[in-house]
Amino acid sequence: MAQDWQPDGWRSREARHLPVYEDQQALAEAEATLAQYPPLVFAGEARQLKEQLGEVAAGKAFLLQGGDCAESFAEFHPNNIRDTFRVLLQMAVVLTFASKRPVVKVGRMAGQFAKPRSSDTETQGDVTLPSYFGDNVNSIEFEAAGRRNDPQRMVRAYSQAAATLNLLRAFSSGGYANLRQVHNWTLDFMDRSPWADKFTQVASRIGEALDFMEACGIDPESVPQLSQTEFYTSHEALLLPYEQAMARQDSLTGDWYDTSAHFLWIGDRTRFEGSAHVEFLRGVGNPIGMKCGPSLEPDALLKMLDTLNPAREAGRITLISRFGHDKVEAGLAPLVRAVKREGHPVVWSCDPMHGNVVKSDSGYKTRPFDRILGEVKGFFAVHRAEGTHAGGIHVEMTGQDVTECVGGAVAITDEALGDRYHTHCDPRLNAAQSLELAFLLAEMVNLETQAQEREAA
Ligand code: TRP
Ligand code: MN
Repeated sequence: MAQDWQPDGWRSREARHLPVYEDQQALAEAEATLAQYPPLVFAGEARQLKEQLGEVAAGKAFLLQGGDCAESFAEFHPNNIRDTFRVLLQMAVVLTFASKRPVVKVGRMAGQFAKPRSSDTETQGDVTLPSYFGDNVNSIEFEAAGRRNDPQRMVRAYSQAAATLNLLRAFSSGGYANLRQVHNWTLDFMDRSPWADKFTQVASRIGEALDFMEACGIDPESVPQLSQTEFYTSHEALLLPYEQAMARQDSLTGDWYDTSAHFLWIGDRTRFEGSAHVEFLRGVGNPIGMKCGPSLEPDALLKMLDTLNPAREAGRITLISRFGHDKVEAGLAPLVRAVKREGHPVVWSCDPMHGNVVKSDSGYKTRPFDRILGEVKGFFAVHRAEGTHAGGIHVEMTGQDVTECVGGAVAITDEALGDRYHTHCDPRLNAAQSLELAFLLAEMVNLETQAQEREAA
């Protein structure tokens, strides 16, 4: 348990990127409402995820974390949830099959609403309005009424998160994730991708393995590991009034947990010393993540680790690096070295999205797929060189057939970006690009295993 910690202790610290609410009374009412609502996740589940991340930190498993940049009220639909979930299952199965290691599956789902913004206001023509802070704060439409920060949106976000989580739980344990279903996870529009063929081959081999085991008396009816999966939720713990309202004291241990999701992370812009966000997350028992970008010095990182994980519990901290394809090797290595030297048990995960944003000639914000793959390769190269485990991946992706990132095997061109550019915030990998990435990751994980075996020999 963290020392001298209170759920509202963050309020006396410097909070960046928090929306200002005009109506304090309405804010207090929304917070009181949420504080009465049932927790979305149970503390025991967060502890179980932490344990599994401990296995990742020890080099025995891999973390797959993905989903929308920002969820929205407008795109709240069971098909969208299902499609993102099934692409994550495809990625997970490819990774598990190729690397022969367990994959810990975490969605950027069921609560990923709030967005930090570089400017408090946005100007179009001669009109200036507050920036869009995410659907749990205000509306994306550029008009005065919608851009007012509305605390009731937190309550709506809670119910959307609850319904999303409910469906994810049903999919995970109700039969959809049964390994016998592996052929059915491919989305129709993926036919065009050569990686869909490769996936069919993997699926067939899994089917054969299951046939064999069934003949031996082991089948999904008798072994739940084959018919179910564990799927966890996560989001950036940015909107602290919401996160505080979801904090609950666990009846079993007396520890506090943020029950809005299993896993919460601190963004690159809110992880500074003395930050309100760090203060809040310090005291909850969930596994937590921290984004690490080019401005982070090794000493500052070590200090942060002492604050967030003084007991050096494995699985508590996931460091999510986001440098950019051309900066990752030089930027990440000193951090990895410092953490290794100090003996902090962390999961290293790679966010190859946020350091690789460019403005396309057609005017859209995009991310070139080859740069995304380049950052992933650089990330693995650093860990191979340092003798540490490249533990995971953190991606913005969707099961929808969008055209937001350029490149990939079904090459999306600059001009095609406008066809289906639907994101509420940053450009996401589509289903085909996500699968392509999973195959690359599988290859990289195997290179790491081979290097370790050579070391051991
Ligand atoms: N239960 C195992 C796991 O979650 C195997 C499994 C079942 C699985 N369904 C899956 C793996 C779907 C990946 C995708 O790892
Ligand atoms: Mn984003």
